[in-house]
Amino acid sequence: MEKQTEHEHSGRRSYLPFVRIEQFEAKAKSVLSRSAYAFQSTGATAEITLRENCLSFSRLLLKWRCLRGVANVDLSATVQGDGIASPICVAPSGLQGLAHPDGELAMARACTRSNTIMTASTVATFSLEDIASAAATCAARSSPQWFQLYCLTDRELTRQLVLRAEKVGYRALVMTIDLPPIGIRYVGERAFTFPPWNELANFSGAASQSASQSRRVTFDASMAWHDIDWLKSITKLPIIVKGVMSAEDATEALRRGVSGIWVSNHGARQLDSTAATIEVLPEVVHAVNGRVEVYVDGGVRNGGDVLKALALGARAVFVGRPALWGLACNGEAGVCQVLELLNKELELSMALCGCPSVHDIPESIVVPAAKYRSNL
Ligand code: FNR
Repeated sequence: MEKQTEHEHSGRRSYLPFVRIEQFEAKAKSVLSRSAYAFQSTGATAEITLRENCLSFSRLLLKWRCLRGVANVDLSATVQGDGIASPICVAPSGLQGLAHPDGELAMARACTRSNTIMTASTVATFSLEDIASAAATCAARSSPQWFQLYCLTDRELTRQLVLRAEKVGYRALVMTIDLPPIGIRYVGERAFTFPPWNELANFSGAASQSASQSRRVTFDASMAWHDIDWLKSITKLPIIVKGVMSAEDATEALRRGVSGIWVSNHGARQLDSTAATIEVLPEVVHAVNGRVEVYVDGGVRNGGDVLKALALGARAVFVGRPALWGLACNGEAGVCQVLELLNKELELSMALCGCPSVHDIPESIVVPAAKYRSNL
């Protein structure tokens, strides 16, 4: 199995003849079952924010800057103290086995080969231990992995997840705070039913069996900011809160001593008619004022989008669906190709905007499109 993957990866011939992320999306739609595609693609209610997440990027323009010595553009970045090849990382998404039989294992291998972060979901198809070892055994070098945590009604089960993630070497906990309740996804819910908890890999082991049977396990809607204090009391891992969409919540998160703030609207799958993430990023960056790293995801579909987010203060940018489309189209090699494509576009955009390093990207290279129109 491993050999086959090596072959797949090393032969560029196995790369699809695609030059844009949208081509991966179109192919994913054609190869996935109706329900798997519905699960991946759907946004909340009328999907206004789903569209806006992408459109808001196109309302920001990049300022072209010339003669700035860009023979060597360096994409290398650091997150939570760990070096990675580029600031483009992979967001958590559940049930990746729906996209490809190797699911999260292929995703983990692709992220390791690309030397970037994979964030493994609580509701993955494979256990967090198997995902960690897939990454550890596939390349000479290892890249940091993060574990995304949902706080469950069974706190002991939640604590066990944290301890298990620590034990196998995840480098940070990403606490998703924008769910529950689960958003209304009209399109997806018609075609897709979420599997029962005890069929999810992280909950089927002997250790969690009794807990998952003794109580009805579900996402904990009673979760509140003081639960971050509880989480801090049970782990030494850095805690990153994912789902921050306001300066107020960013300030509260800082007060609780988190190590990172992740601006996200859950890929527009939760609350519709809310702002696009790139619109909210500046107010969060302003509130945080350099005290912790700020990340963003939502609607990133090309390297230019990444550059805009970096210029507006993101330390790293995460992609959800684009990585899933790569996985659906061509497993591990498909994810590698998606990441390569985005990285190439980022490198070129940085060169043309006169930015040779991700550590020095001025905010001034991002200009609202309306500014130019008002000059006419
Ligand atoms: C997600 N997302 C998500 N987030 C999370 O914290 N835990 C999870 O298990 C999931 N699951 C999930 C499944 C699917 C199919 C999607 C599309 C998304 C949200 C994800 O981490 C991220 O915030 C968005 O996907 C980013 O938006 P884009 O890149 O998909 O536009």
